[in-house]
Amino acid sequence: MSNSDIGFIGGGNMATSLIGGLIANGFSPETIYVSDPDATRLDHLRRRFSVHTGSDNTVPASCPTVVLAVKPQVMREVVVNLAPTWADRDPLLVSIAAGVRISDIDRWAGGGKAIVRTMPNTPALVGAGATGLFANERVDEKRCLDADKVLRAVGITLWVDEEDLLDAVTALSGSGPAYCFLLMEIMQAAGESMGLERDTAKQLTLQTALGAARIALDEGEDPATLRKRVTSPGGTTERAIVTMREGGIEALVKQGISAAQRRSVELGDALGEE
Ligand SMILES: NC(=O)c1ccc[n+]([C@@H]2O[C@H](COP(=O)([O-])OP(=O)(O)OC[C@H]3O[C@@H](n4cnc5c(N)ncnc54)[C@H](OP(=O)(O)O)[C@@H]3O)[C@@H](O)[C@H]2O)c1
Repeated sequence: MSNSDIGFIGGGNMATSLIGGLIANGFSPETIYVSDPDATRLDHLRRRFSVHTGSDNTVPASCPTVVLAVKPQVMREVVVNLAPTWADRDPLLVSIAAGVRISDIDRWAGGGKAIVRTMPNTPALVGAGATGLFANERVDEKRCLDADKVLRAVGITLWVDEEDLLDAVTALSGSGPAYCFLLMEIMQAAGESMGLERDTAKQLTLQTALGAARIALDEGEDPATLRKRVTSPGGTTERAIVTMREGGIEALVKQGISAAQRRSVELGDALGEE
């Protein structure tokens, strides 16, 4: 293994996106090792990216950087089984599993490990992800950059100062794509109910969502400023916004996001149980 080798435990959807992003960003396929129980998946990864593949987790686990890309429910078993591999090593463990806390991963891994916990979101699958990251005290600056590079391959990365804030990241950007889909769903249905063809309403909705996000990203202004800019006094937009506010949209969305945060804490508690 060389210093720049990266191992992936689990070769599913997220790992595939990360590997594709790393290679697109100039990482050599020669430096990437992936393990997964599914031979078809491994075959696909090998043919698409020419990376090293196999069913033995200890091979990627021997890399200096190890991405834990299995489902949260199997993380404990996977990490406990790899603890002997890491007994005399000091790998950087990068977890992308939703909800699994660093203290739990560290305990299962044998203790004293350098761990970065990340919370990516589904748009990572199309290279437009937003990932929150937190490192434990064993991770130095260089290894923070190593972890950052992996997640930056599929979108933007934002570090938080406390691990608990990853529950807020989960509630905001982790679950966030679904809130955007819900709003799009409601807008499309409203368009249809006013007589537009289904496909016309859908295309108008999706392109509006894309355009609004692009303006917000390009101009860098707060959403509130952008909203005021497109809301003429006495016009149609103002009427809609006043109506939505009178109906309690702000409180409802905040309540929903807070409920997601509480659920994230609950799931973290459950996943960490012995
Ligand atoms: N997809 C997202 O948008 C997203 C967003 C945020 C966070 N995440 C996190 O990313 C992680 C992976 O998600 P995903 O969507 O990529 O899931 P996935 O497609 O199911 O990938 C997980 C892979 O791990 C494999 N696996 C199962 N047991 C294993 C073992 N013992 N050793 C090695 N590999 C094993 C699975 O194989 P089998 O299918 O054969 O079991 C599967 O190929 C999850 O922890 C999830 O919380 C995903």
